[in-house]
Amino acid sequence: MTVEPQQFRQALAKFASGVTVISTLSPDSEPIGVTVSAFSSLSLSPPLVLICLDQATSQIRAYTDGPAFCVNILAAGQEDVSNAFAFPGPVPPFRSVPFKTGVSGLPVILNTLASLECRREAVHPGGDHEIVVGSVVEATWNDALEPLIYAAGRYRSLAEPEKVT
Ligand SMILES: Cc1cc2nc3c(=O)[nH]c(=O)nc-3n(C[C@H](O)[C@H](O)[C@H](O)COP(=O)(O)O)c2cc1C
Repeated sequence: MTVEPQQFRQALAKFASGVTVISTLSPDSEPIGVTVSAFSSLSLSPPLVLICLDQATSQIRAYTDGPAFCVNILAAGQEDVSNAFAFPGPVPPFRSVPFKTGVSGLPVILNTLASLECRREAVHPGGDHEIVVGSVVEATWNDALEPLIYAAGRYRSLAEPEKVT
């Protein structure tokens, strides 16, 4: 018995996740990025994370063969940043998305919830995706921000629980 692709997609859409942009440098040293919700912590000691990248991603080799990448965990209100890297137009997204150069030389998006600069540790096959494991070398975050959430095909934000007085 096999699950139909449409059924599979609909079931997966029920899983709420955060939203990240994975950024790196292209072979000609241009900052590039791709929106990814398939991100997970993997190990605490050593500190490892993983991302799953569609093999059809236009510059996949920059992520699977390059030395490093940054996981930019988006904050509530950064839907435009997510869309810029998920649906790129003719102008490279990093021309309009503000970023700085991180400790490892990677583009790090500004005003995010957190960023994890990673050294590429391993790449494993995963069907039509590549599982890229990163060893975290730098982690920063902003306690004042809330996460951007993606569930059931749209962006959402956390609702504050009603205070009981
Ligand atoms: C909310 C959201 C989550 C996404 N998650 C992933 C993901 O986990 N892995 C992936 O490969 N693509 C994911 N995508 C799709 C890519 O961002 C999109 O295909 C991107 O344009 C690919 O880069 P390219 O245009 O350079 O090929 C996601 C898109 C959105 C809007």
